[in-house]
Amino acid sequence: MVHSSLPSHLATPLKIGSITLNSRVFQAPLSGVTDLVFRRLVRRYAPDSMMYAEMVSASELHHLKKLPQVMELDPKESPVSIQLFDCRPDFMGEAACRAIAQGSATIDINMGCPVNKITRRGGGSSLLRQPEVAVAIVREVAKAVEVPVTVKTRIGWSDDEITILDFARRMEDAGAQMITIHGRTRAQGYNGIARWDWIARVKELLSIPVIANGDIFSVEAAARCLAETKADGVMCSRGTLGYPFLVGEIDYFLRTGKQRPEPTVRDRLECAKEHLQGLWDYKGERGVLQARKHMAWYAKGFPGAAELREQLSVLDSVEAGIALLDRAGSPTQDW
Ligand SMILES: Cc1cc2nc3c(=O)[nH]c(=O)nc-3n(C[C@H](O)[C@H](O)[C@H](O)COP(=O)(O)O)c2cc1C
Repeated sequence: MVHSSLPSHLATPLKIGSITLNSRVFQAPLSGVTDLVFRRLVRRYAPDSMMYAEMVSASELHHLKKLPQVMELDPKESPVSIQLFDCRPDFMGEAACRAIAQGSATIDINMGCPVNKITRRGGGSSLLRQPEVAVAIVREVAKAVEVPVTVKTRIGWSDDEITILDFARRMEDAGAQMITIHGRTRAQGYNGIARWDWIARVKELLSIPVIANGDIFSVEAAARCLAETKADGVMCSRGTLGYPFLVGEIDYFLRTGKQRPEPTVRDRLECAKEHLQGLWDYKGERGVLQARKHMAWYAKGFPGAAELREQLSVLDSVEAGIALLDRAGSPTQDW
C-alpha cells in the first residue's frame, strides 16, 4: 500500500537492471559516517533498503594490496553497495571487480562530490564538466562487472551550468541502470535548497530509475519530494546524522500510509550508546574519536543537550561516553 497522495508506482518493487529492491528509500553514502556500525543501526528499521559504504578512491585502491576497512561488508547486511570515485576508467573497472568480490550488490559511481581535493583530480562533481570521461567510466565499469552500475550526481556545476538533462541522458545511454540526483549544484555545496524541479525533469526524460536526493529530513519531506518529482525513490543523507531511524520511518510510511511513532529521547540515547560501543568494538581508539561527532549529533532537542554535546565532543573513552549517556537518559531527568 502507498499513501493516496503519492504516485502508485511507489507500491511496487524497484527494479534496477537485474536486481529488485523491496524498498524505495535509500541510505546515502556518507564519508566518515556510513561504516558497518552505522549501517547496522539503520538496517534495524529499514531491513530492505539499499545502503552505501563510504566512497572509495579507485586510484588509491589500485596501489593497495590490502583492502581498506571501508570496503568491509557484513554478509548479513543486504542489499549494500560500494561507491567508487575517480577519473580513470581503467582503475574504476579494476576497483569495481574488487568491490564485487566484497559482495557489493551494485557499483555506484560518485559524480557529485564537491570537495576540492577530489574535483582537482578530476573526480566527483568535476565529471559533470567532463561528460565524455563520465561516459567512459560508466562503460568501462559496466563491462567489468555483471551487477548494475549506478551514478550519483548533482544538477550541474553552477547556476550557469545546470547540465543535468543532457548529462543524465548520456549516463543512461552509456549503460547506467539508475541515477541518483542531489538537487544542488556543485557551487552550492550543501547550502541553499535542493531544487527538486530539476529532478522531476530528469524523471520525465529517462527510462532508468531516478532517485531524488537533497533535503529529505523528514517523512513529510520525502512524501512531498516523491509527489513533486515522481521519482522512483528517495535517498536520505544529512537527515540520518544522529538519527539512524529516518530511512525506516519513510519506508514504513510508504508501505502503510502511517507515521511510525517517533523514538523517544531515551530511545535515541540508547541508540547513541550502541553506536559508541559498536565503534569501539570495530575500530578501537580511532572509533572513539570518530564517535565524538556522532554523539554530538545525537545530543539534540532535549533539556541539557547542549551541555551533553560539549562533554561528548571531547570524549576519550567508551566508558566515559556510556556513563554520560546513561546519566542524560536516567529516569530522574525531567523530560
Ligand atoms: C558528511 C557527509 C559525507 C558525504 N559523503 C558522501 C559520499 O561519500 N558519497 C556521496 O555520493 N555523497 C556524499 N555526501 C553527499 C550526500 O550523500 C548527499 O548527496 C547530500 O548531503 C545532499 O542530501 P541532504 O541535503 O539530504 O543532506 C556526503 C554528505 C555529507 C554531509
